[in-house]
Amino acid sequence: MERLDKFLSQASGLSRSQVRQLLKAGQAAVDGTPETDGSRKIDPATQKITLSGAELGKKGRRVVLLNKPAGYLTATQDRSAPTVLDLLPEKYRDLNPVGRLDKATEGLLLLTDDGELLHRLISPRRGVEKVYYARHEGAAGPADVDAFASGLVLGDGTRCLPAVLRPLGPGESLVILREGKYHQVRRMLAARGLPVTYLERRQEGFLTLGDLPRGGFRELTEAEIEELAVD
Ligand code: URA
Repeated sequence: MERLDKFLSQASGLSRSQVRQLLKAGQAAVDGTPETDGSRKIDPATQKITLSGAELGKKGRRVVLLNKPAGYLTATQDRSAPTVLDLLPEKYRDLNPVGRLDKATEGLLLLTDDGELLHRLISPRRGVEKVYYARHEGAAGPADVDAFASGLVLGDGTRCLPAVLRPLGPGESLVILREGKYHQVRRMLAARGLPVTYLERRQEGFLTLGDLPRGGFRELTEAEIEELAVD
């Protein structure tokens, strides 16, 4: 529970005095009933709070960062295999994955209930950097690094944007992409004769896994969501 005026100000970005004026003018409502008392305690997770007719708050704008384990499908439901939603509590059942990780791939996956944000995040125009850690057969060398840098063409003619391949040692590399084609990291490394045996997404834009355990999750803060939403 928190004070209505504090919530209104945080959720709308308006100052406390602007919010006070709107409250006085009867512009705020809790569950459809106008409310003028800013000190009233409200629960934004369960109550519908509106300001000048627009609904505010976490509902419709939640983003969860999940550390996906292998064996879970990036889908909202499936008859034969567990999905990433099975890793989250009931209250997150209306979230949708942002892009996808293969069933065998682990690591950072975002989910949101904000359709507009989702489309913005998966738009290829946005070109957010994604960092993958891969273990693979063979050893990546300078020719592979150059091939990634100049834009690989896959066996089926798919043209990849220039990408970064950073060998870490024999059989392990970091791959940094600004796009997300189907099975892209696996296909790019396979195209260089380096088939992937393990894949983990470690970073997406400014977001990292931090100390989240595998299978763990956290909600992004409003400030993180704001930063994500910036084009
Ligand atoms: N590239 C892949 O090949 N698989 C993933 O899950 C993500 C990127």
